[in-house]
Amino acid sequence: MSDTQDNKRVGGSAMKALVLSGGRGTRLRPLTYTGAKQLVPIANRPILFYILDNIARAGIKEVAMIISPETGAEIEETMGDGTRWGVKIQYILQAEPKGLAHAVITAEEFLGESPFVMYLGDNLIGSGIKDFTDAFMEGGSCGTERAEAAILLKPVDNPSSFGIAEVGPDGEILGLVEKPAVPKSNLALVGVYLFSAAIHKAISRISPSPRGELEITDAIQELLNSGAKVDSKILDSWWLDTGKKDDLLAANTIVLDEWFGRDISGEVDDNSTITGRVTISKGARIKNSTLRGPVVIGPDTVVEDSFIGPFTSIGGGSRIIKSIIEHSVIFSGTIVDHVDRLEDSLIGRDAKVVRCRDKHQALRLMVGDDSVVEV
Ligand code: G1P
Repeated sequence: MSDTQDNKRVGGSAMKALVLSGGRGTRLRPLTYTGAKQLVPIANRPILFYILDNIARAGIKEVAMIISPETGAEIEETMGDGTRWGVKIQYILQAEPKGLAHAVITAEEFLGESPFVMYLGDNLIGSGIKDFTDAFMEGGSCGTERAEAAILLKPVDNPSSFGIAEVGPDGEILGLVEKPAVPKSNLALVGVYLFSAAIHKAISRISPSPRGELEITDAIQELLNSGAKVDSKILDSWWLDTGKKDDLLAANTIVLDEWFGRDISGEVDDNSTITGRVTISKGARIKNSTLRGPVVIGPDTVVEDSFIGPFTSIGGGSRIIKSIIEHSVIFSGTIVDHVDRLEDSLIGRDAKVVRCRDKHQALRLMVGDDSVVEV
């Protein structure tokens, strides 16, 4: 794709992308003790893959990922140099999680004077971003005032957990507040923001919030205070912030339902029944089992004498034996053996969930910190 359309913005710089992949992922513990929240698999693909898909489809070529000391190496190893998406990825270390606006400061050298999309690495949306970025880059033509930022909004049930916008009768933004105790609306800021270089000056004028972070919400409010135009758009597709277990299961359900078809590359024996949209990856073997889609089975996974129900993804190299699993996300290398019914569950990498057959009443557990076991 050419950069011509990107260059419609005054100054001629093409849009860049800043993907925020730091943070500690406290809401997804224990899974995030050993891995980055942005790499948690949704339908067996890391969340960041979907984000890079959207960035590449918007025609953006230069991407920087903000990483933390804890999970940066794993993110770099998984995402690589961007060749997979036809983009160039560079990595920028944010030594401490001091906020989204602080991440922008960390990336100032990469961003220069370019307009950019800032994309939070745990946000999944049901649509692409090309229309949104194109409209921003086109803005200011035909004599209209050019916006210095554009935000996506979505109504939520728990507005105190997000950045919230107060919007006037004509859709103009009256004010933005980060996690308000008494929200003035239910319109949350989705984690995909568009900025011109004017954001840097706005960030230089804000101070840390009560949670000790430099908030991007405050920086956008600062742009408004200085008289700059901020565009907003209500996101008309779904939006999931995958930072918590239920959101993650919901994201898995929607992605499996909307984006996955039927693709049987693994082996299925004659005693098995595969119904609906089921993906069985190469090297996987299904024996004497029923799989009812939407389901994704990763490479080299063995499913034997089992039922895998709708909205389940099972990572590669796993073994599912004589078990029933529904509406769950199982990471790679995991063993589930003789478990009558596993539902609404998230099971991390290389875990074992095995029914103990000699002592019927006993539970024998080795459960990590912050785990949840419901029996
Ligand atoms: C951040 C932003 C918030 C935004 C949310 C979207 O919140 O500060 O304004 O609504 O992302 O995911 P955090 O995830 O840091 O709590």
